[in-house]
Amino acid sequence: MSGERRLAIGSLVLRNPVLTASGTCGYGLELARYFDIAVLGGICTKGISLEPRAGNSPPRVCETPAGMLNSIGLANVGVEAFVAEKLPKLQAAGATVVANVLGTTPGEFERLARKLDGRPGLHALELNLSCPNVREGGLRLGTDPGRVREAVAAARGATTLPLIAKLSPETADIGALARAAAEGGADAVSVMNTIRGMAIDVRTRRPRLGNGMGGLSGPAIRPLAVRLVFEASRAVPIPVIGVGGVVRWEDAVEMMLAGATAVQVGTASFVHPRAPLDVLVGLDAYCKEQQITYADLVGAVCLD
Ligand SMILES: Cc1cc2nc3c(=O)[nH]c(=O)nc-3n(C[C@H](O)[C@H](O)[C@H](O)COP(=O)(O)O)c2cc1C
Repeated sequence: MSGERRLAIGSLVLRNPVLTASGTCGYGLELARYFDIAVLGGICTKGISLEPRAGNSPPRVCETPAGMLNSIGLANVGVEAFVAEKLPKLQAAGATVVANVLGTTPGEFERLARKLDGRPGLHALELNLSCPNVREGGLRLGTDPGRVREAVAAARGATTLPLIAKLSPETADIGALARAAAEGGADAVSVMNTIRGMAIDVRTRRPRLGNGMGGLSGPAIRPLAVRLVFEASRAVPIPVIGVGGVVRWEDAVEMMLAGATAVQVGTASFVHPRAPLDVLVGLDAYCKEQQITYADLVGAVCLD
């Protein structure tokens, strides 16, 4: 497809614009039981930290109208085990792998980027600058443009891998966060992470999540994500990856019309593990029917 040139994230050319969203399909291998994960544009892994993390106290997920709340707290195996155990399997599966990494300081992002630099089978890093579910700093770092610039620059100095900066929706100015990421050396931004929410059980009068609050995801947040993608894509020249409530191929088209070069499918996979593949198949059929390329859709919303 002639639009492929536009699908470049730094030196990485994606084979198509549909990826999985971090944390919603483990390390990606979990989906391999349902379809060939190599056909997707990319697999974004669960967030990886320097040390293994146990995560927050249960319950860690609950259903909400048209979505869900989670407070997983970034439970993960840690970077050493990821490299030793998960990455070789993803490579053997032929997947385009984007490692989502979690730091709470620029120094942690630098160390993670250094440890992952040059690993066979790894194609890009997504910096989680925006997790609402960790006490020590994820959100504070991700909502301050100066800290975002610093964290991205720290990772940039430690790796030649393409860098995607994942932004928080908890800001009055997504353009400022996107510009800061681009100035720090990001090759793309992904918009958006979950937004903090809360649900209370009226019988027990207790929060429905063990952690009290959690991150809201799913179709409930799609209009917010579409608006943020629209604004971010007008603020920076680098690609914007749209994340938030993409369930059907029409949602991917909507994100792309708003300005996304690619999309990630997250919560939908919990309902239907083949959702990322179905989104891709539907998107391709739509482009064929309309006789357009992916690139023709990017930012093509009619505003007059
Ligand atoms: C259970 C769960 C775990 C998540 N873990 C991560 C994570 O580790 N790192 C990250 O950057 N985003 C994480 N996210 C956020 C998603 O990648 C995505 O940004 C968000 O869910 C919005 O997309 P969706 O509505 O398609 O799910 C998680 C989301 C859920 C629901």
